[in-house]
Parts: sequence; C-alpha cells; structure tokens
Amino acid sequence: MSRTKVGVLISGRGSNLKALLEAARDPAYPAEIAVVVSNRADAGGLAVAAEYGVEPLVVDHRPFGPDREAHERAMHAALVERGVEFVALAGYMRVLTPWFVGAWSGRMLNVHPSLLPAFPGLDTHRRALDAGVKIHGCTVHLVSEGVDEGPILGQAAVPVLPGDGVESLAARVLEAEHQLYPACLAALTGQASGSEATPAALFSY
Ligand code: GRF
Repeated sequence: MSRTKVGVLISGRGSNLKALLEAARDPAYPAEIAVVVSNRADAGGLAVAAEYGVEPLVVDHRPFGPDREAHERAMHAALVERGVEFVALAGYMRVLTPWFVGAWSGRMLNVHPSLLPAFPGLDTHRRALDAGVKIHGCTVHLVSEGVDEGPILGQAAVPVLPGDGVESLAARVLEAEHQLYPACLAALTGQASGSEATPAALFSY
C-alpha cells in the first residue's frame, strides 16, 4: 500500500505532531509524515520530528519581512519537493494567505481547541469558561480562507467540570485533540489513497 505523504506545519511544542507521528508508526496507517516545517527555529516540535526520524525543516518567516506570501512560497516549494500531498497544521501560529490556502485547497487540515463554530481564534479555553459552557472540545477542519472556518471533519467533546481553570480544561481538550487529529487525518488520506473510506470521526466523551 502506498501511503499519502503529509507535511506538518508547526510553530511550537508539537504535542499534536507527536500524536500524528505516533499514529503513523503503524504501517497500516494511510499517511506518512514526510517532513515537519516550522517557522520558528526554537519550536519544540522540531526535536519531536527528529526523534521519530522525520526531517525537521525551519523556514523562518523573519527574513521575508512583511511579504507573507513569499515565506509561504518557500514553504510550499519545500513541501512539493518532498512529494507532500496533504498539509496538517499542528499549532502553526501564523494566519495563511489566500494564495497558500488556495494552493492546498481540500488538502490542508487544522486542529482547533474548541467546538467550532464556537470560539474561533485565540484563548478558547478562557472564553469557554467565561461563557459558562458545560461542554467544550476540539475540531479538525479543512482550511479555508476565513480563520478557523472550513468544512468540519471531526469533533471531540469534553465536559467542563466544576472547579476547572484554563489549565485543567486545556489539558482535557488536548488529550481529545491527540485522539481526534490522527483519526481525521486517517479518514481524509485513506479516502485520497482509494483505500476503504473511514467515516469522518465524531467523538464524544
Ligand atoms: C493546540 O491546542 C491546537 O489545537 C492549536 O494549537 C495548539 C498546538 O499545541 N491549534 P501543540 O503544539 O500541538 O502541542
């Protein structure tokens, strides 16, 4: 079976990246992680990639100044050179230009720490606590031009428990992200490679 080549974009610690790498260790998993690209040289996820024998690549955005598209063209070239077919955003902290989103349309996914369309953007756990929601969670979706928009591939729900603060709630959601993201990537790339289609994941705890 030929596996779909995936490039993962990160900016930080890379715990979701680790979940994807762990899933992809199984030869039956439909995707292989071909390269991990970070816009920051100090991203913890670069070491995680190396641990799993995957190439860590830094494409620093700073030399490109305000020209975001030029930075993305450099990342794009690196991805294409390595035969990447799908892009997984895993804590990539820059808003992508319409050009990059268009280039990977239908082939780029993101994990977001809320049940979209609730709480797009940053600081989702604080906002969920302030709103008093009883159910929170995470979403994996295809990336479209609007930030944290795009067709939903899967969601995982977690309870908000009495006494929760940002940290405890974030930890519960993160655990769910680590289950959901590999499941959704498998569903998407499994379909792309023509193998048995897995239904889009819907988890609830
Ligand atoms: C996660 O909460 C993810 O949902 C968000 O950024 C965070 C990345 O964490 N997009 P990590 O680097 O995967 O640990």
